[in-house]
Amino acid sequence: MDLEFARRGVLIDGRWREGPQTLPIEDPSTGETVGELACGGAAEVDEAVAAARGALSDAWGALSAAERGRVLAKIGQAVLAQADRLAELEARDVGKPLRQARADVVALARYLEFYGGAADKLHGETIPYLPGYTVYTLREPHGVTGHIIPWNYPMQIIGRSVTAALAMGNAAVLKPAEQASLTALAFARIAEEAGLPAGALNVVPGLGADAGAALAGHPGIDHVSFTGSTVVGAMIQAAAAKNAVPVTLELGGKSPQLVFDDADLDRALPFLVNAAIQNAGQTCSAGSRILVQRRIHDELCGRLAERFSGLTSGPAMADMDLGPIITARQKAMIEGYLETARRELTLVGQGQVAADAPAGGHYLPAAVFGGVKPDHRLAQEEIFGPVQVVIPFDDEDEAVAIANGTPYGLVAGAWTRDGDRLFRLARRLRAGQVFLNNYGAGGGVELPFGGVGRSGHGREKGFEALYGFSVLKTVAAHHG
Ligand code: NAI
Ligand code: MG
Repeated sequence: MDLEFARRGVLIDGRWREGPQTLPIEDPSTGETVGELACGGAAEVDEAVAAARGALSDAWGALSAAERGRVLAKIGQAVLAQADRLAELEARDVGKPLRQARADVVALARYLEFYGGAADKLHGETIPYLPGYTVYTLREPHGVTGHIIPWNYPMQIIGRSVTAALAMGNAAVLKPAEQASLTALAFARIAEEAGLPAGALNVVPGLGADAGAALAGHPGIDHVSFTGSTVVGAMIQAAAAKNAVPVTLELGGKSPQLVFDDADLDRALPFLVNAAIQNAGQTCSAGSRILVQRRIHDELCGRLAERFSGLTSGPAMADMDLGPIITARQKAMIEGYLETARRELTLVGQGQVAADAPAGGHYLPAAVFGGVKPDHRLAQEEIFGPVQVVIPFDDEDEAVAIANGTPYGLVAGAWTRDGDRLFRLARRLRAGQVFLNNYGAGGGVELPFGGVGRSGHGREKGFEALYGFSVLKTVAAHHG
């Protein structure tokens, strides 16, 4: 692993330093410890917040919107120039197949292009008002933004959250996940070398309960963006509430894909499979429930079985269909679900683990279960592993009731050739994103993303993120 590229330290005000403690860095493909991660705690968070505050009235805050955009665009170029190194680092650190890691690098660069280009394009408005007044609005940064991110898509989440915040002129403190911090550190180094002023982005790796909690509840933070579990999300919101600051919560999901009996199964199948195996199922927006019209349930299960039997899990750098699970702990959690499933559900098909996969790696074969009842645990809870469930339904009303029948509401997909039905479903499905005859739409950075219900609130990605990372000020002038 290219550990030198990801300078392992705490980055505060442009200076890299050791932290009070270290954590082991594990390669999930082998289970081996490959290095040490310098971690910060409450004291480092304190300093990082102060450094960010300082940057707002220093070189970073002095830049015009266009100049900020130019810096972000330059960082985007630098990310692409380092694409191979970043992809390998992400693949090894997260355990994701190399081509998926490459796609994440490209996505990060796209965020920097998009938000770099958008930095000077978010306008205020003039408001017609009483005679003698001119009223207008200003879009201003919150100030210091805190970003607590998970281990499944570090680069993509930095892209959609940190770069959008910077585009609006905020100064950021980033707390990456303890299981995968390396590309966050490499990104900070690339940004620094590309000309991001000191203090605009500070990085404090560390444990959630330590550095993470300190950041979420810090009185000097003006906005918190969190991606991760629903349980921790609620804790973040409670911590931020003490300071009355806004939060964006991007939590998990149990996103349904509805397959009607007139659907084009050839088109749908790759999406129905990929939804369960991308990043080994460790994806918040995974389409991890297939709802299928009963008449084609068995046919669909047969076709899924065929596809799943061809899926292989193996080391990230071998670039197979699935990489390992991030940690032994997450793997054990998924195995718990699989045990229940084997006992109570019908296994329709499964893949295999590569014969030469290192014994210490956290591998699981992809699996699909059929004939699942909508209220079964496996149909209700986020498994965060390569497990797909197929739930039969009879008609549209039942499909919608099942689709909306979990506490989550992140994404939903529908497959049918009935155009009227598609437009009805788009309105009836309770989710932040709805995909009609596709799923994910290639993950475009332009598409606002976020949940309802236990999937969280607030929107990242697209132009919408810029509203979230700014505050509106109304100015009323009386001039007679
Ligand atoms: P987590 O929610 O504990 O971790 C996400 C981030 O929050 C990490 O940076 C972590 O250090 C930080 N964190 C943890 N406790 C904190 C606290 N008290 N205060 C502030 N920050 C804190 O997620 P974990 O334990 O890694 O995964 C557990 C489950 O969460 C998964 O099985 C999955 O269901 C869900 N999850 C969802 C993700 C998503 O993309 N929405 C990403 C990761 C996990
Ligand atoms: Mg955790």
